[in-house]
Amino acid sequence: MQPRHFISLLDLSSAELHTLIQRAIQLKTHRDPNYQPLKGKVLAMIFEKSSTRTRISFEAGMAQFGGSALFLSPRDTQLGRGEPLEDSAKVISSMVDCIMLRTNNHETVTTFAQHSRVPVINGLTDLLHPCQLLADMQTYFELRGDIAGKTVAWIGDGNNMCHSYINAARQFDFKLNIACPVDYRPQQSIVDAAGHRVAFFNTPEQAAQQADLVVTDVWASMGQEEEQKKREFVFKDFQVNAKTMAAAKADALFMHCLPAHRGEEVTAEVIDGPQSVIFPEAENRLHAQKALLEFLICR
Ligand code: CP
Ligand code: NVA
Repeated sequence: MQPRHFISLLDLSSAELHTLIQRAIQLKTHRDPNYQPLKGKVLAMIFEKSSTRTRISFEAGMAQFGGSALFLSPRDTQLGRGEPLEDSAKVISSMVDCIMLRTNNHETVTTFAQHSRVPVINGLTDLLHPCQLLADMQTYFELRGDIAGKTVAWIGDGNNMCHSYINAARQFDFKLNIACPVDYRPQQSIVDAAGHRVAFFNTPEQAAQQADLVVTDVWASMGQEEEQKKREFVFKDFQVNAKTMAAAKADALFMHCLPAHRGEEVTAEVIDGPQSVIFPEAENRLHAQKALLEFLICR
């Protein structure tokens, strides 16, 4: 049987994603330590970039399900010495039950998946961060119910998170209003595929008008550290602050995948304020990915 992969939100059907979110909520609210569907199973985790949430949530999730996780860094595996991805994928997938990768280039994950005999999970690439969207959607469903027909405002960089929000707009059927500098817009092909659901605005207030959820992310992602100063200048008018939240609905939520830079993409007042749900959002990485691991491995 061909393995199912989770490289993009588009790899699962809309119905599968909805089921997975409900399963994540169930796993969170009815935690049963005796339920160990992944007993004896092993997840390999390859990290080319730093991580707190992704690493801990996958490792803890595997442990809670009776399995185990291996942390692999290119620095101390042959991956960092140029062993072909194809060979690495064949070898690693012959020994483990699932592989999660966090890489710079998206193609590293897609190439890996082509040569893997076990499910491959995208733990963030320069293009997409689908696991974060599972947690974000779970958080919205828990606190506000179905997101279909709602309006989400994305403020800031048209980056990997923004791309995954666009894919989520398709799969969960919400409207996505984007405010970002013209030179930092998300990839046109990803925008085009979402059709009428995505619209662009000049200011955060315009994008956040009557929004049910306001989301942002760092101005300089991992790997863009040398652009930090330039980006601080380019993005200075694309901050989520009290004015932005005032434009949104009174019961709008604020989300951020974290880590955050208070005073840059979001003010401390908003991220530490009553509308912010960043900590349940971060915790839900654990529950959503347990549902994902169960879905991919226990087939
Ligand atoms: N949000 C997120 O992916 O966090 P980490 O970089 O800490 O894994
Ligand atoms: N856009 C950020 C997300 C971090 C979780 C990055 O790629 O660094």
